[in-house]
Amino acid sequence: MPTSTPDIRAELAKVYDLEPSLSAAEATRDIHARMSRVIPFADWARHAPYVIAINRLKAKRGAVILAHNYMTPDIYHGIADVVGDSLQLAIEATKVEAGVIVQCGVHFMAETSKVLSPSKTVLMPDMGAGCSLADAITPAGIAEMRAMYPGAPVVSYVNTTAAVKAASDICCTSANAAQIVRAMPGDTVIMTPDKYLAQNVAKQVPEKRIVWWDGACIVHERFTAQDLREFREFQPDTTIIAHPECPPDVVTEADFSGSTAGIIDFVTQNQPSKALLVTECSMASNIADAHPQVEFVGPCNMCPYMKMITLEKVLWSLHTMTTPVEVDPELIAPARAAVERMIEISRRPRAAA
Ligand code: 13P
Ligand code: SF4
Repeated sequence: MPTSTPDIRAELAKVYDLEPSLSAAEATRDIHARMSRVIPFADWARHAPYVIAINRLKAKRGAVILAHNYMTPDIYHGIADVVGDSLQLAIEATKVEAGVIVQCGVHFMAETSKVLSPSKTVLMPDMGAGCSLADAITPAGIAEMRAMYPGAPVVSYVNTTAAVKAASDICCTSANAAQIVRAMPGDTVIMTPDKYLAQNVAKQVPEKRIVWWDGACIVHERFTAQDLREFREFQPDTTIIAHPECPPDVVTEADFSGSTAGIIDFVTQNQPSKALLVTECSMASNIADAHPQVEFVGPCNMCPYMKMITLEKVLWSLHTMTTPVEVDPELIAPARAAVERMIEISRRPRAAA
């Protein structure tokens, strides 16, 4: 089984017409129009044959593609059936009717889809697409926290393995973390594994004592408040929007903080003339065409895991039906309960949470 991109490409080229093609690009001009600010038409000629092949094969396999907001624009606009933040993707995974889900995102997202839809085949185009947060904690870490804070509920970020979810009381995402923590009984709440999300939530929910695990996202922990201050000095008319996985002093410097879907909503509603998205680089690329009057400025960081998912690997995944994600059957019910509790609370009106 080939694993490198050149080998995968060579194998696929035996079956599909994947040469760069201006006629394929012309035939998919409507798709390209959704990303024309970030992918020149000449480059689209390289992507279009893959997009055509994937969309055909997806229909043949009865598959649905769930893609995270950090996917590159060719995936996000070209082949995804559903796009969203972690919460939206988890909710969609409960509704999917297709027998096959291709998860364009990282491994924990595919596991979440599998625990929510265990009878479906959930394919990961690259099993190496992990997450520094999911790697940061194990069920033993959860047990350690429970021993240190007896009786305190454990709220684990969805960026965790199914085993960690199963050992937790409830999950949260960056879209609902404060709402979930507020809804927990008692004064003390354990949040794992993202210390920065926990510290940002602690500011929003001062009535709770929040204790946290020492994990961080390698993409968001690299931003500094000093960088943002310098940027603002240089371009004072910039609206700064930060993901809550950033350190709290970075979030404090920002005009708004929210999940990736929250960031899209904020830009859509506020139409800033200049926006600095303090998050993964594909966020700005994916929404640039929908907001032509917004100038996206400033630095961003790439997630090396998210970027492992490519058109070649998605086509290979559908072609070979690999790699199906499996979750230990004993973990499915408790992990699903933790995710479903989160979804149930996030549906409540915020004021009543
Ligand atoms: P959200 O899309 O839920 O904001 O999560 C961001 C992220 O880092 C996912 O890995
Ligand atoms: Fe994990 Fe951070 Fe990458 Fe999201 S952006 S998958 S949290 S490493």
